[in-house]
Amino acid sequence: MVRHIKLNNGHSIPQIGLGTWQSERNEVSKAITVALEKGYRHIDCAAIYGNEDVIGKAIQNYLQQQQQNNTRPIKREDLFITSKLWNTCHRKEHVKGACKETLKNLKLTYLDLYLIHWPLAFPFNDENIRDEKGGFVKLDNVPLMETWKAMEELVDEGLVRSIGISNFTSQLILDLNSYARIKPAILQNECHPYLNQKDLIKLCKQLGIVFESYSPLGHATVLNDEIIAQIAQRHKKSVGQIVLRWNLQLGNVIIPKSTNPSRIEENLNILDFELTDKEMNKISSLEEEEGKKIRTCDPLDFGWGWNIFC
Ligand code: A2P
Repeated sequence: MVRHIKLNNGHSIPQIGLGTWQSERNEVSKAITVALEKGYRHIDCAAIYGNEDVIGKAIQNYLQQQQQNNTRPIKREDLFITSKLWNTCHRKEHVKGACKETLKNLKLTYLDLYLIHWPLAFPFNDENIRDEKGGFVKLDNVPLMETWKAMEELVDEGLVRSIGISNFTSQLILDLNSYARIKPAILQNECHPYLNQKDLIKLCKQLGIVFESYSPLGHATVLNDEIIAQIAQRHKKSVGQIVLRWNLQLGNVIIPKSTNPSRIEENLNILDFELTDKEMNKISSLEEEEGKKIRTCDPLDFGWGWNIFC
């Protein structure tokens, strides 16, 4: 059984979810169905992924079939569905509309979790984002406080149960925490053995925020690691399973992405073994090796010449 982690607002989140970033529209429906059949109860989505309508249909079909064929059917309230506010909708007058659009696409009446996707505001009109070379991103002047207050209203109105943040640095988290009427329940950031996020996880623990790792496989970059391969051999597991288990034993929520049915199953099959403290420490120290530390996702790395995590 996948463990559920209690959030700071009394709700709880299944520790393993299915990621859907870069899940192609023609593959994601099958992926969702397989995942739900195999026991996933947590799906991580975002408006910008461009596939929420397909995911919504697959969830709806699954729940309807459950109603027809089972004495104890899986229901909506057994699932945990996350989505994220895109950067073009940070102004207070756009947040609710963006959330409602996502709910419409996902065919849901509420979200379990809604995250600010990036601590960056882009102009509302999509066409203004890029320059003529297509590489430059224009920013809009919207303070995060304005966006967060609008997120809190979504909770007040019952459209979402929990709110949180993604891709925030420690300074931004502390700032948000100083004025938030509703504290963020989750921080979702990239985290894997080549980016172990030790200090950020420590801060989250202190503030009562659950840390959720996206790209827990390092976007597949960690899968060729020789040291992890040795550990995998010892446990008769795949490298991917060791990497995910490491993240789980740190106490984090993980959302590995796959559209491949056997890998979707493989990524869930990590509950029947345990890494020793020595193995955990070995994996945690990999990013210190020369040239290993890597951040696979920084959309502003192009064009600007700086990244937002500096
Ligand atoms: P696929 O969808 O074809 O399975 P991350 O979640 O860290 O961003 O990694 C996602 C990438 O890793 C995708 O390319 C996905 O491809 C691949 N992947 C997911 N699970 C596994 C696994 N168990 N073994 C190998 N590759 C995997």
